[in-house]
Formats: sequence, C-alpha cells, structure tokens
Amino acid sequence: MSVHPLAQSLNDTLRNGNSIAYTLLSDRGRGIYFPSKGILGQSAEARGKEINATIGTALEDDGSPLTLGCLEEMVEAPKSAFLYAPSFGNPELRAKWKQMLVQKNPSLVEKAFSTPVVSAALTHALSVSGYLFANPGDEIILPDLYWDNYELLFQQGYGASFKLHNTFKEHGYDIDALAAVLTDGGIGKKIVLLNFPNNPTGYTLTDAEAQSIVTTLIAAADAGNKLLVLLDDAYFGLVYKDGITRQSLFSALCNAHENILAVKMDGPTKEDYVWGFRVGFMTFGFKGATEEQYKALEAKAAGTVRGTLSNVPNISQSLLLAAYNKDVYASQKADKFNTLKTRYEKIVDILNTHSEYEESFVAMPFNSGYFMCVRLKGADPEKVRTLLLEKYSTGVIVLAGLIRLAFSAVPYDKLDALFQNLHSAVQEVVAK
Ligand SMILES: Cc1ncc(COP(=O)(O)O)c(C=O)c1O
Repeated sequence: MSVHPLAQSLNDTLRNGNSIAYTLLSDRGRGIYFPSKGILGQSAEARGKEINATIGTALEDDGSPLTLGCLEEMVEAPKSAFLYAPSFGNPELRAKWKQMLVQKNPSLVEKAFSTPVVSAALTHALSVSGYLFANPGDEIILPDLYWDNYELLFQQGYGASFKLHNTFKEHGYDIDALAAVLTDGGIGKKIVLLNFPNNPTGYTLTDAEAQSIVTTLIAAADAGNKLLVLLDDAYFGLVYKDGITRQSLFSALCNAHENILAVKMDGPTKEDYVWGFRVGFMTFGFKGATEEQYKALEAKAAGTVRGTLSNVPNISQSLLLAAYNKDVYASQKADKFNTLKTRYEKIVDILNTHSEYEESFVAMPFNSGYFMCVRLKGADPEKVRTLLLEKYSTGVIVLAGLIRLAFSAVPYDKLDALFQNLHSAVQEVVAK
C-alpha cells in the first residue's frame, strides 16, 4: 500500500535529524497520519464563520450544543463537554498534564519532551504504542511477572512475541537478567516494556536500581541497539516506602541517548481513582528531538486515536481538568494515598508479627501500587484459591504460580483476616 502524502510528510520530519523514532516505527506506524486536511481540517478552517455547516455535531438555533435537558441536569461540566474533544485530547488538559508531569518528576524541568496525547486510558495508550511501533514478529522484552492484558494487547493485537526475563533476585529487581536479554540476539531494534509500580507484584525500583536500569539501557544503546522503552506508569505516585524511586524512569530516559525513544503511558485511572473515566496520556521523549519531531509523533498518535476511537470522552476530560484546577485536589489526593499507604504498612506489620505465616507463604518484594504477591509453600495456588472462595469467603487471584492480593480493594479492618484465611487455607491444602 502506498504511503499517504501526510504520512510521508510526518515520516520525513521524523527522519530529519535524529531518526530514532522513524527507525522504530512499525509499518502501520509509518503509514498512519493525522488527517489534518480532510473533514477535520476543513472544519477547523470554518471555525468562527457566520455559517458553519461542516462538523457532525448538532447545535441549537442559538449556536449552543443541542443537548437533552435530563442529561444536562446531571452533568456539572460546561456544555461544551457534550461536544467532541479533539483526537489529540482537550488542549488545556494536555497542557495541564504536561505541567503536572514536571511537578511530579522534578528532574524533567528544562528537559524537552512531547505534549501528552490523550488516550482512552492506559490500555488504549499501550495499544496505540503497539500500533505505532510493533510489527508482527517483533519481540518485546519484559519481566516474567507482568500484567496479563499485555498478551491481548501486544501478542494478539499486534503479533508481537514476549522475551521474558526473571523479575526478582535477592529481594530486588533482577537487572542482570534484563541486561542479559538485551544483549541476546544481536544488535538491532529492541522493545522494552517496564511497569512500576508493578502489577502484579506491587514493586517499584529503589533509587539505586532505577539508576542501574538506566545505565543498562544506555549501555545497550551505546552498543548500537535502537531502543523503544515503553513505560507503563499506571500506578505512578503510589510509593509507600523510603528509598524507593519516586520519579518515572521517563525523567532519565527522555533525553538519555540518541538511540533511546521513551514513551510514557500514564493517566488518572489509578492515580486519581477514576477507573471508569477512560482517560490516559502518552508522552514521547528522545535525545536530540526537535519540536517538529515531537509534533509528528503526536500527530501519529492522534491519527491512531482518530482511526480507532475517533476521540476520547470529553466529559471525562472536562471533569478531570476542572478537578486539577481545584485547590482541594492535592489534599484530597493525599488523603486517598494515605488510605492505601496505611494498608500497606498494616500488611508489613502483619507479616512481621506472624512468623507462623512463613510456614504457608513467602511475600514477594512489594513497596507500592495496589497489589502484593505471595508464593505458597507446598500448596497448589489454584486449590488454595478455590478453598478460600468456598470456605473463607475470600477472593484472590492466581497468576504465574503466585497469589496476588489487591490490598487496594480490602478494608484495613479485614487485612488481618485476609492473611489468616490464606494461612489456614494453605495449611488445609497441604494437610490433604
Ligand atoms: C499495569 C497496568 N497497566 C495498565 C492498566 C490499565 O489501565 P486503564 O484502566 O487505565 O486502561 C492496568 C489496569 O489494571 C495495569 O495494571
């Protein structure tokens, strides 16, 4: 299929200067463009004209959005929230999120990176990344404990395969294992997917480990590899322990090396407790990028949004923007953070004070996020899960031979019982 002139123009921009982003694009990624000259472009040109018969929304005779009163009554957002958002996302929200990224990651100050493009939450941002960068047969490097939806997203969705490495070594992240898979298979395009705080383990790197991962990735880039580093920051900010890195790896990677393109995917889903709003962001960074190159990557991402969902719900974007501009936002967010942190601390306390639980399970390293995992001793996890459901009215997840506990969803007062039930169920399964 021939490449559309608008795609060609974006590709030319991405090749002009440091061409890392162009090199990493998939065939689909090279073909996609934002249709700036079609209906959207013509509508933009007609904005403000006395008669505007271009766009497919309905307006009242006074020019305001034509809406149903019963819906309007329920929605405390500007009436414009009923209209389409741009495929790039609400411009004010994008600017606000960019500004918040710098506040949350102080070492981003003075670094150049793209303006975030709005996606329909993290899953969709990951899918857009797959669209833009993964060709069938491409390998994605990731730890062997990962969010299972990556399989649907990247394997089923884009025909990529996974090259897994061991996750933990001696209570910390197995960076040697990551380094080993990076050097495996010769020099070339390498896609690395990292997720901290991690689902399922609830692990975030220590400051030293974060530094070491950056050094490892730079070494792979120095060796001539072209690296796409996908950063799934879904649980960003939910770090409960000192010495654990508070900033996204994006802060270090967005200008680390000419051969590294970092893509940060994040959003309010877990950070701001709005799972059903379906808003997320994807942000690009690479060393030596020009403003035009960032605009070109944003256009390719927005073109992918346009060709899949058209655009992300405006009502969610409007509500979030309004919340981020409220004075109470920061303190309310801190309150909810403390609810989760207190549960984390309670679990640490339970594990420290119940040495008998060591007969049944060992906790995997955890310090952040929504989850923690335990490895059972001598009991089949699926049998334990079933017994927990049937006899103890307790639901847990079995994955990768582990049991995952979502303490984000368990009231503080039920945490003691959760671990006691788990211990009892393991002992019963072992005794059978
Ligand atoms: C690691 C990880 N990434 C992404 C997501 C998806 O987030 P969203 O609901 O924003 O699509 C989840 C949700 O469980 C997750 O655990």
